[in-house]
Amino acid sequence: VSIDDEITAHYELGQEKDRLTGGRGRLEALRTRELLARWLPPAPAVVLDVGGAAGIHALPLARQGYRVHLLDPVPLHIEQARQLDTGTLRSAEVGDARMLPYADAGADAVLLLGPLYHLTERADRLAALREARRVLRPGGVVVAAGISRWASTFDLVDGGLLSDAWFADVVAHDVATGIHLNPGRRAGFFSTAYFHRPEDLVAEVAEAGLEPDGPVAVEGVGGFAPDIDAVLDDDVLRERLLAAVRATEREPALLGASSHLLVAGTVPGN
Ligand SMILES: C[S@@+](CC[C@H](N)C(=O)[O-])C[C@H]1O[C@@H](n2cnc3c(N)ncnc32)[C@H](O)[C@@H]1O
Repeated sequence: VSIDDEITAHYELGQEKDRLTGGRGRLEALRTRELLARWLPPAPAVVLDVGGAAGIHALPLARQGYRVHLLDPVPLHIEQARQLDTGTLRSAEVGDARMLPYADAGADAVLLLGPLYHLTERADRLAALREARRVLRPGGVVVAAGISRWASTFDLVDGGLLSDAWFADVVAHDVATGIHLNPGRRAGFFSTAYFHRPEDLVAEVAEAGLEPDGPVAVEGVGGFAPDIDAVLDDDVLRERLLAAVRATEREPALLGASSHLLVAGTVPGN
């Protein structure tokens, strides 16, 4: 099993370590942690962070007392995670979501926060979900992330990119096909990916034999806040924004308006 070399080349730029530290990425990280806290069993549960990059979620979870194993196909991410780690991770290794190096039924939770949107073939996404199911105990939970079909459309209209004809073409392709490409591998833009309709992400989790809960909006309506860093820096405004996001996080009419979506899937039987 090997991943698309365009995806590897994108992540070898090394930007993933800092992606969630400002702007909408900061809201994505805050909300992802909030949703993980709801879905994960308590520490010291065994958590496999598959596609966990440089440990943005794995390291804080390990510090909370979870027994965390990190897996990612990009060697640079694993090197970065090892450098950032202070001995808290149980393991950190190179690997692919479709073929996990873990035993059957040994984990309490699997995070798939990345692999599903980098696998453009539905059969590959289902293979990753079935692998997660295999390594989980009965009652264990997968938390799977998708990118909304319209995420790049929001970037087009909101990110000062309307004058960029190349990006407008990329977005038109995303909306028409769900397959996001970066022709010419332009730096600063995302790599090959699949952008889900919310209902398709849930259907894939169910088809893999997991009991789905969601989708839940990650940034949700909060992604539309102007000057999001100023909002997140202010205790009152941040809580007001998060309350607005929570109040609408499962509203079907708004789900596709969230750049990222999460679905939890529980292994039947307990
Ligand atoms: C945008 S990053 C997200 C990282 C982190 N999980 C987070 O939530 O911020 C997507 C990650 O998925 C990883 N990835 C891509 N294809 C994968 C595959 N087939 N199996 C496992 N991970 C994969 C990439 O290497 C990258 O680290």
